[in-house]
Amino acid sequence: MCSARIRWRYRERRAARDSACSVSGIDRCDWSSQPGQPLLGSVRVPGDKSISHRALMLAALAQGDSHVRGFLEGEDTRATAAVLSQLGVRIDTPGQNERVIHGVGLHGLRGATQALGCGNAGTGMRLLAGLLAGQTFDSTLIGDASLSTRPMRRVIDPLTRMGAHIDSRDGLPPLHVRGGQALHGMCHVTPMASAQVKSALLLAGLYADGNTEVVEPHPTRDYTERMLAAFGWPIRFAPGSASLAGGNTLHAVDVDVPADFSSAAFFIVAASIVPGSELHLPIVGLNPRRTGLLEALRLMGADISIENARNNGGEPTGDVIVRYAPLRGIELPPALVPDMIDELPILFVAASVAEGRTIISGAAELRVKESDRIASMAAGLRVLGIAIEETPDGAIIDGRPLGGGSVTSHLDHRVAMSFAVAGLVAQAPVRINDCATVATSFPGFRDIANGCGFDLREVD
Ligand code: S3P
Repeated sequence: MCSARIRWRYRERRAARDSACSVSGIDRCDWSSQPGQPLLGSVRVPGDKSISHRALMLAALAQGDSHVRGFLEGEDTRATAAVLSQLGVRIDTPGQNERVIHGVGLHGLRGATQALGCGNAGTGMRLLAGLLAGQTFDSTLIGDASLSTRPMRRVIDPLTRMGAHIDSRDGLPPLHVRGGQALHGMCHVTPMASAQVKSALLLAGLYADGNTEVVEPHPTRDYTERMLAAFGWPIRFAPGSASLAGGNTLHAVDVDVPADFSSAAFFIVAASIVPGSELHLPIVGLNPRRTGLLEALRLMGADISIENARNNGGEPTGDVIVRYAPLRGIELPPALVPDMIDELPILFVAASVAEGRTIISGAAELRVKESDRIASMAAGLRVLGIAIEETPDGAIIDGRPLGGGSVTSHLDHRVAMSFAVAGLVAQAPVRINDCATVATSFPGFRDIANGCGFDLREVD
């Protein structure tokens, strides 16, 4: 285990993070990644984060008990479980990656005496804001240092138009959600492609009079819609729109959570860029709103195939087989961006080792993720010798052999894991500062990575 070393420039952020992240007990550590072996074998990555959050929330509001298998034991999803427990929902853990949620019904939540800690999770906070807007009691949602800088007006404004009352720190957390407000349905056209915004409005819509409709500029992940239907709530949805009426009932169902495509993505790129690799990733969630990376990598020349494609409780899944193949730069079609929004950091790494130039655009949303991911990736890749030009909504990256050096995660789990993959093909070790937040989405990443051929060490 790494020793607790605090760098002065992060001391403030860390102190705030640690005090706000009461459920986390996050370890602090730096990693060093160096060339390992060709990546071989089968890699089972943890359960889907988006689905795990939603399963907890809908099961909590349902009548009856729901058994969730494949639940992501990450900091983010555990924070959501802890919030629901504070709101009076009994959640049992019969085993690792399993939860039994004893639903309290749509109107069965009770107010918490303390603030509700969402940790690092934008999904947790934004969806809970929608869910809590329709309750009879007041709630306060808080987050860690990173979440406390993320924009919440995107949910506050439309929820307010539905009749909610939410106070914030000038559009930033904490969010004080007032209870006892009469919500009314409306049609909201979202200015940005965001499944979190859409989901917050649909969850508020469960409590609203009349119809709540959300129309998006580009279709986003539709887990909330699919899961509401599975829990028996009448809903109409198609790519880019969803609509439901308030005043129905959710009925408990069991949920099998597939492996998270966004976690699989690090291994998909790793096997694509390390000569001699062949990896098998079983039962990965392949919802088309998540798999833009597969298309992008195929355009770059990657060798990826899907076996055992099937429908797993309403979600498409399959085994992903990846073999090494030389990659070439591309102009990424902007239409692919929303379907790979969480995979862009690792695409930056693929682009850095591809032959030629890659141009990424239409990805301004990356600037308001767990860190400004365009800036975080550009800064680190420059340290490793890559010529990268940042643009407001993307980057221009010229591929060449990666050098070594010391980079920072900017307390962003996906940035940390992306640089762990970069180290596999760098000419000298890549040291990554502050990797503890990897546990928010991918507990056990280092062990799983080392098990298939990475050489990823904790360092003092
Ligand atoms: C998520 C939606 C996306 C994604 C996030 C998870 C979700 O965020 O980046 O990791 O579960 O709905 P946005 O809605 O902000 O695009």
